[in-house]
Amino acid sequence: MTQTVNNGGWGEDHPIGVAVLGMGTVGTEVVRVLRENAADLRARVGAPVVLRGVAVRNLATDRGIPAELLTTDAAALVNRDDVDIVVEVIGGIEPARALIKSALNAGKSVVTANKALLADYTGELAAAAERHRADLYFEAAVAGAIPVVRPLIQSLSGDRVNRVVGIVNGTTNFILSAMDETGADYSQTLAEATRLGYAEADPTADVEGYDAAAKAAILASLAFHTRVTAADVYREGISKISAEDLETASAVDCTVKLLAICERVPAGAGEPGPEAGGKERISVRVYPALVPRRHPLAAVNGAFNAVVVEAEYAGRLMFYGQGAGGAPTASAVLGDLVMAARNKFFGGRAPGESVYAELPIAPIGDTPTRYHVNLQVADKPGVLAKVAGEFAQHEVSISTVRQEGHGSGARLVVVTHHAAESALADTVAALAEMESVTSVTSVLRLEGTEE
Ligand code: NDP
Ligand code: HSE
Repeated sequence: MTQTVNNGGWGEDHPIGVAVLGMGTVGTEVVRVLRENAADLRARVGAPVVLRGVAVRNLATDRGIPAELLTTDAAALVNRDDVDIVVEVIGGIEPARALIKSALNAGKSVVTANKALLADYTGELAAAAERHRADLYFEAAVAGAIPVVRPLIQSLSGDRVNRVVGIVNGTTNFILSAMDETGADYSQTLAEATRLGYAEADPTADVEGYDAAAKAAILASLAFHTRVTAADVYREGISKISAEDLETASAVDCTVKLLAICERVPAGAGEPGPEAGGKERISVRVYPALVPRRHPLAAVNGAFNAVVVEAEYAGRLMFYGQGAGGAPTASAVLGDLVMAARNKFFGGRAPGESVYAELPIAPIGDTPTRYHVNLQVADKPGVLAKVAGEFAQHEVSISTVRQEGHGSGARLVVVTHHAAESALADTVAALAEMESVTSVTSVLRLEGTEE
């Protein structure tokens, strides 16, 4: 018979106490699973895991749990002697930040789904956890139910990650999928995503890419052992993506996805590379891009997310699943809760922060990418050569060019090879000034191709 080591005297007379802060979309499911699965959780942890209380804003809402569990005084709940683990699912910066710090400073473990907070304050929170030998878990903060934080922190800790690219926002993927499949209206689809509990309290965070940028910052920090904050992430959202953009994408057998891309890029021009004692850099960016339909990310629809990790030795790994919603997110939160409870029981600790590499962030202008440019042009001899000349002048190599229509309705569709983002942006600006170009009707980046 194996013997378990119980370092805290935990047991029937001394259960592990949990406080849940927030009982909205995620908190409601966390509380439900915690109560419904109590017997299994007890068996998996080794001691009972007991819900001590739930902090909310509004006590009048009927939540289907005993009223004595509810409180509006989150700080007092966190500080109760019988609370050992705090689950924060309020969202936003304050009071979440102060409450988490207060828990960590008291040596209590914390589980949070709050990517907006982590993207800016992981350093501060991890330092508090380190100082007080407490756990800080946040699997649910990136891509809902999908285990991707723990694989990066633990499973791949002996490898070298080169690239992480993914669809990490369920709301925008839900919207773009509907626009692609049915030509659905943008605002109606956003309302539906909000109704289903996918969107943030302020859905601007979703549609303008802030939520994906926060997740990208977390992923890049873990992948490259470097502190990356939301301010380091280049960000564009989907609010300017039109039905015409989706049609353009379809015409070239692509769809449009909001991508989070974190990758190593070479040292800057004139700077020494790693072989000469210098440092490579990392690029972290979020934007909508054309993705070929044959690419695995193109098949990720609705509120599903997927993250592709490319590592030196493991090769390419893909993580796929439900990226938003109460129950899927609660699954990730509960997984962290069990880990934190087991650590209490056995006396271990979660791995701490690893930011030793301190890689510099490359500016977006230096990032290599491909553009798909649609131009309305005058159908006159020599226009194509002039347009091609503008690309050449900026040292942007053209992969394909196609003319559609003629007369005043002539259109040129230019797809480039990889070039520096700044060169591509300058080319587009110059094209817009050309007399023979009536308008630059769309500019979309193209990702997921090998060229
Ligand atoms: P909701 O807006 O649905 O719920 C927030 C909850 O926090 C509510 O119960 C609210 O109380 C409570 N609350 C707000 N302010 C306070 C306060 N000052 N004191 C005590 N309670 C407070 O948010 P979600 O459940 O959607 O999201 C929670 C967190 O999880 C966020 O960080 C979010 O980014 C993250 N997340 C969300 C996912 C999702 O799919 N929804 C997926 C992954 C992560 P009341 O009910 O009284 O208003
Ligand atoms: N609003 C977020 C999304 C929730 O749509 O992906 C999950 O983090």
